Amino acid sequence: MSQKITAAITAVGGYVPEDRLTNADLEKLVETNDEWILSRTGIKERRILKGAGKATSDLCVPVVEEICRKRGIRPDEIDCMIVATVTPDMVFPATANIVCDKVGAKNAWGFDMSAACSGFLYALTTGAMYIESGRFRKVVVVGADKMSAIVDYSDRTTCIIFGDGGGGVLLEPNTEGFGVLDSILKSDGSGRSHLHMKGGGSLKPATHETVAAKEHFIYQEGQSVFKFAVKGMSDVSAELLERNHLTGEDIAWLVPHQANKRIIDATAARMGLSADKVMINIHRYGNTTAGTIPLCLWDWEDKLKKGDNLVMAAFGGGFTWGATLVKWGH
Ligand code: UT7
Repeated sequence: MSQKITAAITAVGGYVPEDRLTNADLEKLVETNDEWILSRTGIKERRILKGAGKATSDLCVPVVEEICRKRGIRPDEIDCMIVATVTPDMVFPATANIVCDKVGAKNAWGFDMSAACSGFLYALTTGAMYIESGRFRKVVVVGADKMSAIVDYSDRTTCIIFGDGGGGVLLEPNTEGFGVLDSILKSDGSGRSHLHMKGGGSLKPATHETVAAKEHFIYQEGQSVFKFAVKGMSDVSAELLERNHLTGEDIAWLVPHQANKRIIDATAARMGLSADKVMINIHRYGNTTAGTIPLCLWDWEDKLKKGDNLVMAAFGGGFTWGATLVKWGH
């Protein structure tokens, strides 16, 4: 009898740029203050990728290199590279192709996945299915965003939230039941009116007018997104537990998208999880969009134990949202 193949996470990598943008720095740019930002979002500082010629692929390269180093493989052993991002280096080609070129992953095919803050979960689930099919043996899934490229630093409602960074994992076949066990992924494109970037796509290609109207920056109706996020992220996490006959007690860690500490707290409460089981690094990196969940794994990797059940959960632009159950395998 053939054994069921699951996609185990066998290595984690992460990268944040050195430059910090603190709440005190933002006080000099817009009418805001440390107390408001910290109490409304939980953020103290973010990292910013500076330097001419630096793009999202430069956030991904150290991630992939760390993964290869830790797992003891060469980049040319990677079969497939999926990069979740909404800030690709260019509209085309895919950032995944650029990353493969830069790291020397000469035998990999790959593509970008655009699902905003849920991008890592969409990509992880997709990558896991490639492994489960038996077709590929080494799939790298990276979530990374250079949000500073699309943030308007004169808009106090968005510039306080976002930062740059990325992380990723290597997926490999496992027959002992470790890895990605289940995912519930959702989307509702009608949510686009609340969170989007107007310019730069085929709907509104860049013109002098789109630039003057600041249409190449994030547009977010924060309060509406907040309400959908609290409900979406906590509902889907509860549904995932129920479908797998689990309760909060069976979960070692919640790995939530880091958009707002209040959204994370609501999700943890709904799942019956105490604060010590919730990964939170929003105070250090802000919201790195597709980067938040793998950056949590990177920060907490040495605390994770073989057999731990992890629930990853996200909500973001699209709207897209979802939750993924992972049994930690190393
Ligand atoms: O990751 C992708 C998905 N995105 C999210 O999940 C983000 C969801 N939304 C949020 O996290 C929150 O809505 C924000 C952090 C964006 C905003 O927090 P809020 O508690 O929803 O604030 P608000 O928009 O209701 O604004 C409250 C007040 C307003 O003043 P008035 O009208 O009450 O006088 C704002 O003008 O706070 C004001 N305000 C600020 N004050 C100081 C808005 N931004 C700032 C600021 N500093 N940076």
